[in-house]
Amino acid sequence: MKVLIVGGGGREHAIAASAAKSSRVDKIYCAPGNAGIGKIAECVPIGAMEFDKLVSFAKEKEIDFTIIGMDDPLAGGIVDEFEKAGLKVFGPRKNAAILEGSKAFSKDLMKKYNIPTAAYETFDDPKEALAYLETAKMPIVLKADGLALGKGVLICKTLEEAKAGVKEIMEDKKFGSAGNHMVVEEFMTGREVSVLTFVDGKTIQIMSSAQDHKRAKDGDEGLNTGGMGTFSPSPFYTAEVDQFCREHIYQKTVDAMAAEGREYKGVIFFGLMLTEDGPKVLEYNARFGDPEAQVVLPRMKNDIIDVMEACVDGTLGKLNLEFEDNAAVCVVLASDGYPLSYEKGFEIGGEENFEGKDGYYCFHAGTKLNENGKVVTNGGRVLGITAKGKDLKEARANAYAATEWISFDNKYMRHDIGKAIDEA
Ligand code: AMP
Ligand code: GLY
Repeated sequence: MKVLIVGGGGREHAIAASAAKSSRVDKIYCAPGNAGIGKIAECVPIGAMEFDKLVSFAKEKEIDFTIIGMDDPLAGGIVDEFEKAGLKVFGPRKNAAILEGSKAFSKDLMKKYNIPTAAYETFDDPKEALAYLETAKMPIVLKADGLALGKGVLICKTLEEAKAGVKEIMEDKKFGSAGNHMVVEEFMTGREVSVLTFVDGKTIQIMSSAQDHKRAKDGDEGLNTGGMGTFSPSPFYTAEVDQFCREHIYQKTVDAMAAEGREYKGVIFFGLMLTEDGPKVLEYNARFGDPEAQVVLPRMKNDIIDVMEACVDGTLGKLNLEFEDNAAVCVVLASDGYPLSYEKGFEIGGEENFEGKDGYYCFHAGTKLNENGKVVTNGGRVLGITAKGKDLKEARANAYAATEWISFDNKYMRHDIGKAIDEA
């Protein structure tokens, strides 16, 4: 079969690598893709938001199955457009992708269906938000309602910071129209866990857990980023936590969406906080996490196309989702300066060191081929270096060893990815 993947980051490279292993797949296209994806797929220069062009391309090439990797096209209704054209596509429709697209929607859903999450209020008038903050307990969390590239969350320690935050989000519109509405939320403490799941409208199947490292610098200092590294599984996601989440969070979310007339098919990524009062939902995402996908998918035993097709067909209940009994760690190699300003266009050397090495992966995020056909840096997060090991410690040692195989100017990484493993 012919597969089209929409997106062009490390997540889409991990999806493409899994699809390439499927005996059912003859050809993979990726729009727009990147230099690494280009080694296993044909990259086509169509943007993820160019729905008409993507649909025409899929029809012309007789694509059998399309996988949407990114949140923006999902929230914009790309799945509805593909379905209207009679094309088979993996991901939630627009009315279900709102689970990630609107924080106010997801908070109201959790309240209505009694799914554990932080206490909150929503505002569309900055004056009312400011009045509320005067009486609220600090620290407090402010969230722009809509998609803001993972950056629309402000954690405010003092009332002054919170007031400045309301101005940034609702008045200065730092995150654009995402700031027309705002959620003000109780600050929670605990360990964070990312749980990716497959959903077919009624059945939900849980993938192996993972933990991300969102801050730019060692010791969780510095600015929030898309994610600087991950490990899977999380030793903090115990059987007891899993049991609680299955009872109070996962299936309840799927059923709530169905009850609201927003049948959910695709991936739900549960961002959980393991608080003293039990696991609570920090956020929902309507797609795989990045770089979570880079440690979870390489450990999945099933054929990814079988699983995704079962989600679309509503037959996920018949399938047994299986993961390897090992661990994986991903260390992101970024451009120094990310997430603020950084230089691009530096040649990347050493990728040949990964050839023939089982259990090692060099996933590309911000890379491209330059005019001389050389692979060069083209973004903040450049590569995701993933390695497996028999346990987390071995996987971490392997991943950090492999980061040394790669060279490029201004290469930056965190040196403490997976440090939490030592405390488990
Ligand atoms: P989100 O985009 O909602 O995942 O938020 C980004 C990050 O902000 C999360 O990964 C948490 O580290 C942090 N965060 C979000 N909401 C809260 C909260 N209610 N309490 C504490 N930290 C939070
Ligand atoms: N790594 C976090 C995310 O994909 O949203």
